Amino acid sequence: MTKTVKSPINGYKVKTFDGGFRSKSMVSINQFTKASQINKLFAVAKRMERIVKARKPNKILNEVTIAELFYQPSTRTFTSFLAAARWLGCQRVIAIPGMTAYSSVVKGESLRDTIQSIEQTTACDAIIIRHPENNSAYEAANFASVPILNGGSGKLEHPTQAVLDLYTIYRKMGKMKGLKVGMLGDLKYGRTVKSLAKILTVVDKNPNFYFISPKVLKMPREEIKLLKQRGAEVTETENLKKVLGDLDVLYVTRIQKEWFKTAAQQRLYKKLKGQYIISPKLLKKAKKKMIVMHPLPRVGEISYEVDEDSRAVYFEEMRMGLYTRMALLGLLTGKIK
Ligand code: CP
Repeated sequence: MTKTVKSPINGYKVKTFDGGFRSKSMVSINQFTKASQINKLFAVAKRMERIVKARKPNKILNEVTIAELFYQPSTRTFTSFLAAARWLGCQRVIAIPGMTAYSSVVKGESLRDTIQSIEQTTACDAIIIRHPENNSAYEAANFASVPILNGGSGKLEHPTQAVLDLYTIYRKMGKMKGLKVGMLGDLKYGRTVKSLAKILTVVDKNPNFYFISPKVLKMPREEIKLLKQRGAEVTETENLKKVLGDLDVLYVTRIQKEWFKTAAQQRLYKKLKGQYIISPKLLKKAKKKMIVMHPLPRVGEISYEVDEDSRAVYFEEMRMGLYTRMALLGLLTGKIK
């Protein structure tokens, strides 16, 4: 029987990665059910890393057409998917970074109609989408006949970011389990932390999480409940200094201004911003082998001086996004076995 994952919002379903990646969408991190699926993906990512480092042209995606539809701003996800397709010889990438300004979304077109229209107008083999609604990638996958790759949806899911984050941990720490992983900042609205925490439970039966945030930006209770059900040990605190020395990974996130909409919320944002700033002085309290990660963009929560510290891996982390997105495009389109 085909195993599926159901959207918590409206019941749309997508297949898990049991049985492989070919022709499947990547909508939710919950589609990963076994460490072997991640090992397979990372073995391909290492091949992709060799292709980029050798600067050797190849034609893996030569016959493939890809559409990229972004309804929210992006620097990294948009460009790394575009570059990933091109590094693999894809000739036809139809990329729209400003869907809410330049497409018929402005005239009120629904997501399901847009997805079906793009498939018709481009004859694409896969669609990459970023959208502010939590359920958007599930909805797109439900109405598409080609794989949908979720480049970030609402406040809940950023699965390709979680894959690149885990790949970074694996490459820099040499392992994916037995690590004390701290996640800092906006854990309420941040989608990267939720996806990363969940993928870590697939590779580690007993992951150790330290969730560090202001009280009003705590990880939602349903996420904590799920992580504990999956075997995670969770420590929650507002006090970074108290736990910093224990951590092997410090995953920093920005306070996400875009979700603070009303005047009262904007006042709250101003109070919260600047509560945690990673500086060279602070890092003296951390392990010598700890790594500092950040999905970026940063808006002051890691000082520029930290970039010189060998523990700062957030720039390399973006390059891992190129390798893992190349791997995902190859596997999901069935061009890499
Ligand atoms: N990490 C990340 O998703 O960055 P962008 O918003 O620039 O894509």
